[in-house]
Amino acid sequence: MCGIVGYVGDRPCADILVDGLKRLEYRGYDSAGIAVVNEGVLDKRRAEGKLANLVSLLSDDPVDGPTGIGHTRWATHGRPAERNAHPHRKGSIAVVHNGIIENHLAIKSELSDQGHVFKSETDTEVIAHLVWKHREAGHALAEAVRMSVLRLEGAYSIVVLDADTPNTLVAARLASPLVLGVADGEGFVASDIPAILAHTREMAFIDDGVMAIVTPEGSTLRRIEDDAPVELKTQTVTWSPAMAEKGGHKHFMLKEICEQPDAISNTIRGRISLERSTVELPELDAVADALSDVSHFYIVACGTSWHAGMVGRYLFEELAKVSPHVELASEFRYRRAPIDKKTLVLAVSQSGETADTLAAIKDARGRGATVLSICNVIEASIPRASHATLYTHAGPEISVASTKAFTTQVAALHLLALHMGATRGAIDEATLSADLDALVRVPAILESMIGDDTPYMEFARAWHEATSMLFLGRGNLFPLALEGALKLKEISYIHAEGYAAGEMKHGPIALVEETVPSVFLNPRDDHFGKVRSNLQEVKARGGPVLTVYTEGHEDATRLTDFAIPIPEVPHRVLPLICAIPMQLLAYHMADFKGTDVDQPRNLAKSVTVE
Ligand code: AGP
Repeated sequence: MCGIVGYVGDRPCADILVDGLKRLEYRGYDSAGIAVVNEGVLDKRRAEGKLANLVSLLSDDPVDGPTGIGHTRWATHGRPAERNAHPHRKGSIAVVHNGIIENHLAIKSELSDQGHVFKSETDTEVIAHLVWKHREAGHALAEAVRMSVLRLEGAYSIVVLDADTPNTLVAARLASPLVLGVADGEGFVASDIPAILAHTREMAFIDDGVMAIVTPEGSTLRRIEDDAPVELKTQTVTWSPAMAEKGGHKHFMLKEICEQPDAISNTIRGRISLERSTVELPELDAVADALSDVSHFYIVACGTSWHAGMVGRYLFEELAKVSPHVELASEFRYRRAPIDKKTLVLAVSQSGETADTLAAIKDARGRGATVLSICNVIEASIPRASHATLYTHAGPEISVASTKAFTTQVAALHLLALHMGATRGAIDEATLSADLDALVRVPAILESMIGDDTPYMEFARAWHEATSMLFLGRGNLFPLALEGALKLKEISYIHAEGYAAGEMKHGPIALVEETVPSVFLNPRDDHFGKVRSNLQEVKARGGPVLTVYTEGHEDATRLTDFAIPIPEVPHRVLPLICAIPMQLLAYHMADFKGTDVDQPRNLAKSVTVE
């Protein structure tokens, strides 16, 4: 995601801001900028691309002063470009923002009617205009910010600078992190600890619904809702800079596993209306005809994204009454699959740069297909080669092993299947409303599952030296068996096979012996009895078994050597829930073995060659 840093004090702060942004580079970004105030004059510099571009701009055309804000942007609304980079300015006001403002279009249209002119495609710019409007009406800066953020729906951490209010920053937070750094005669604010760790270890973490007024003399907190004072509690952060980058986790992969509740919230945010029981995906308006009238439907992807596509097939069949062919892009691009004007090709790609997926959609588009993509990176090559894109908004994924990208792809596929079901008149209201309800509950359920590593550690302690493992599931958990095996092999280098459990007796069961553990995905669903029979077949041949089972269904654990409970959920969201044990199991196995979890051998994050 984006990065924020802010400073007030007596030092010229351009270098402090740029240095803070450098410490957030690991998070990924596509443009950067700073704004500073010096003796009542506000100036900003912004550049597309790497921080080096901003540094070079600053050396050609310097700005400096003792109060400033900086930002690295990872595009969510509006393509990566200088005009969309933060800070955004209106009059004396400059703003940096992380998160997504869901109702920005409504605010923009209201302000446009009042004569406001916008210069960017971002959701953020409306904040600068709102604050400026309230300042013009005579409100003090803190009150103007408070009145502005009360209008915002979605998620934000913002920092606001006003040329007319010297030595003050006002920050506010809702569902996006913000931390204050406390030092003698200086105040710091940032989205993440590493940005300010070089200057202070005394930090205060701002809670949701709270704003901070930061000055060199100290900071005060107020509740946004009613302006009531909030106590400032600081703590000493003892993390090393490397630990701070990973949010205190040992690896980026673990950090990204833990980020999934937020990432999925970001995928569904603003796209679901529980009151109206609707999925709102205006970005797909351009392909509305193709969604309602399809002759052939192909999902093309590679690796983990292909597994997400396979989960998608179950969703499209059940919810939209259409059965897509889920294709490996590296195969599909060389096949002569039938394609006509009514063909829909859906590319699924985290990076948006995977060479085979890109080539497959270019070829299909050239032959007349409508191309839709699900992607995590705004304006990457695959979205640019598509007629429309549904972005997952998972935030940058640093670890080579895909985790939050996978679950957000599955959530996006679920939204798309519901949308397509509604467009095609294939889904009834009760199903739509039940699925929307189930989806909005997923982030909290995932949150409750992350934290207790005991069962994973127990299994990893016993089996990290295994040389081969099997992963088995049925129905919509078959793709999760494939994903569990892929996760394990790519980061622990243990050979693993994922299979549809019903296929066991057609070959893989020959591999079962005392040294080959099998992981069964066997929650309480329609497949429970069948999977249990497959499990018995493995036990009868002396194979050790780990079962992922539904909490409280103790009967499921009778035959197993290791057991990992998951909460009971409606079956269509089971893949999202079962992703967590697959990821954590692979992670702890690799960590026990001591492999390079985040950058496993021979693998690249983005595969831009065939
Ligand atoms: C999975 O952990 C891998 N990173 C890999 O399989 C990945 O999903 C694949 O290379 C596709 O990448 P994409 O989603 O960026 O297109």
